[in-house]
Amino acid sequence: MAALKILVIPGSLRTGSLNARLAATIAAELAQAGAEVTRISLADFPLPIFDGDLQAKSGVPKHAINLKRMMAAHHGVLIVTPEYNSSVPALVKNAIDWVSRVQDPGETRGQVFAERAFAIAAASHSRLGGTRALSALRLILSACQATVIPNQLALSFATEAYDDMDRLKHPADLEAIRGLVRQLIEFSQRLM
Ligand SMILES: Cc1cc2nc3c(=O)[nH]c(=O)nc-3n(C[C@H](O)[C@H](O)[C@H](O)COP(=O)(O)O)c2cc1C
Repeated sequence: MAALKILVIPGSLRTGSLNARLAATIAAELAQAGAEVTRISLADFPLPIFDGDLQAKSGVPKHAINLKRMMAAHHGVLIVTPEYNSSVPALVKNAIDWVSRVQDPGETRGQVFAERAFAIAAASHSRLGGTRALSALRLILSACQATVIPNQLALSFATEAYDDMDRLKHPADLEAIRGLVRQLIEFSQRLM
């Protein structure tokens, strides 16, 4: 059986991003569980703010097509998003909006979402840990016909969650990550 491939997308470009750190932690657990993991940065897929006139004039930007094809080359996708004003950052929403406009030959538009499992996670300084961003992201991905796995992960008080060795301090956080990883692998295998 081919190796299960999972794409990990942090939803922040910020140096020292809490979400990029959480994405790295989950990526390591995915690899530990046997998945072949690709962790990207959206900085490598720079996109203008979605504008229908721009699409009509110039088509979908090549970085959106590349990001869509990157997703298509994996069986499952994990998005680790910050919470901005109780929702997802424009970076994440804009990337999804553009990818949802990509239509490769022989495909319906947005088919890439419908054919794979998505997991969602968030990290924040707050007690809620980005839960509201997760609700928003689940809704957006579901609107794109994605299978969003039931488990999700909100890392509360994320600035204090790691020790000096960059390991999670609380066993419950690691357990929650492992639960997310198990379910993402299970759902991705089902859709393979
Ligand atoms: C515009 C803006 C809005 C924010 N709104 C929220 C919010 O609604 N809830 C929350 O928990 N944190 C909020 N934050 C704080 C972010 O969670 C925090 O900056 C976090 O570190 C961003 O993720 P990153 O470290 O991965 O870049 C906000 C930050 C910014 C810049």
